[in-house]
Amino acid sequence: MNRDGYSISLWQDMPDYISKNLPAEADIVIVGGGITGLSTDLKLQREGKRCVVLEAQNIGFGTTGGTTSHLNTLLDTSYYQIRKNFNAEAAAQVYEVTHKALALIEKNILGYEIDCGFDRKTAYLFAQDEKQEKELDKIIEASNEAGLHMKESNDIPVPLSFRKAAKATDQAQMHSTKYLYGIAGAFDRMGGCVVQNCRATEVTHENNETIVHTTKGKIKTAHVIYATHIPPGINILHTRCAPYRSYAMAVTLNDENYPDALVYDLDEPYHYYRTQEVNGMRYLIFGGEDHKTGHKENTEYCFTKLESYLRKYYDINEVAYRWSSQYYESVDGLPYIGHLPGNPENVWVATGFGGNGMIFGTVASCILSDLICKGNSPYAALFSPSRFKPVAGFTRAVKESIDVISTLIGQKISIEEIEGMSELAHDEGKIGRYEGCNIAVYKNTSGQLFAIHPDCPHMGCSVEWNQSEKSWDCPCHGSRFSHTGEVLTAPAIKGLNRVELSEQEEIKQKV
Ligand code: FES
Repeated sequence: MNRDGYSISLWQDMPDYISKNLPAEADIVIVGGGITGLSTDLKLQREGKRCVVLEAQNIGFGTTGGTTSHLNTLLDTSYYQIRKNFNAEAAAQVYEVTHKALALIEKNILGYEIDCGFDRKTAYLFAQDEKQEKELDKIIEASNEAGLHMKESNDIPVPLSFRKAAKATDQAQMHSTKYLYGIAGAFDRMGGCVVQNCRATEVTHENNETIVHTTKGKIKTAHVIYATHIPPGINILHTRCAPYRSYAMAVTLNDENYPDALVYDLDEPYHYYRTQEVNGMRYLIFGGEDHKTGHKENTEYCFTKLESYLRKYYDINEVAYRWSSQYYESVDGLPYIGHLPGNPENVWVATGFGGNGMIFGTVASCILSDLICKGNSPYAALFSPSRFKPVAGFTRAVKESIDVISTLIGQKISIEEIEGMSELAHDEGKIGRYEGCNIAVYKNTSGQLFAIHPDCPHMGCSVEWNQSEKSWDCPCHGSRFSHTGEVLTAPAIKGLNRVELSEQEEIKQKV
């Protein structure tokens, strides 16, 4: 199974999922084959709708293949923060709907007999200084008010010192892609259709018909749902969600000190711990070092820091896997689930899940299926993507600015003419200058050069090299591209423009 990065996650050892052909019509077309898309299609297919999932690569290619799969109602945006940003009723509603989502995952696993290592666990949150202790007190109080029972704990299941700790029972964990394949299989058996390697390129609405145009042809539909982590194209939601990268590793230990729980500190960014058995082998999964996408010059150093932190407390036998993954934070800490602003009323979206994608992806499936099948959901207002005022003319203004950028492309150049490339090492990516333009170049381990124009085709920001995932990442809205410029992650629909290097130079560099 492939993922949107160079590094291999703990969840990628899965067989190829068998696709179907693109049908001509569907009741609902869902773009994106991750937890959100496949949970939503399963719900809607059960409601008697004919659903088709379009996945540009393979199912689980995005963040579902790179999550650490903590299943929480103890959320990244604390109930204290939700109460502050919204109100106490909103915090209670968020607890209620995330509690239901966790129960739905468990029900699916039991009902469809999905063998994915699901296990109920207690979650611990601990404070290590006075400031964190005050924060923890607020979280405990607000969580209990919202409905999540948190109580103080005298111990924590990790070997770190702490001033205060609290725990919440009935949280859970699982193997993310085994669950994903399980629900995809259930959907398939119900007559659903997953089409992989099929990128949705455009959605048109004419003469009361909605058509999704794809790289495999067209499909007519009554509804379109964007379950692509962030909607593709240009939308006001891109200004309301910020992309972040998080780093994780799965290690084996020389002793039996694996934590039998989900554990979090209150550092900024925080560290997270848990244990998962995969194919008979136990792994301690540890993560942290989060930063805004495209804002860290040396992403390899994030892994180095993570590993040296863990080695202070654990006797590591082997770092078996290490990978990074992307998530989106909304401005007010809650996801946007519902009608996609600026689009016809049959276009839907779910985005801005923060670090709780597995749970909020499942929440989205419940809200979207209620909105489509019943016309409403008790949680629609709270998660509405229109809970801010859209800016008139936003899309047109941005499109105009991109057209100017795209005229800068189009000639064959020599690597020697690009300033700043003389010391480009093997397996390194860098941005240099050529006649007033930026040119981004990656040299692979055998010396082959790949040059692209670094202006992101989404809204024109300049991409940055991500050494650990060998990708060009956009710091503005999180689009990511392979070293050859192909889209790995939306919102960009088109890849980066290739810059042709003179043949002579390419040959010279290959030797
Ligand atoms: Fe928006 Fe690159 S993702 S400008």
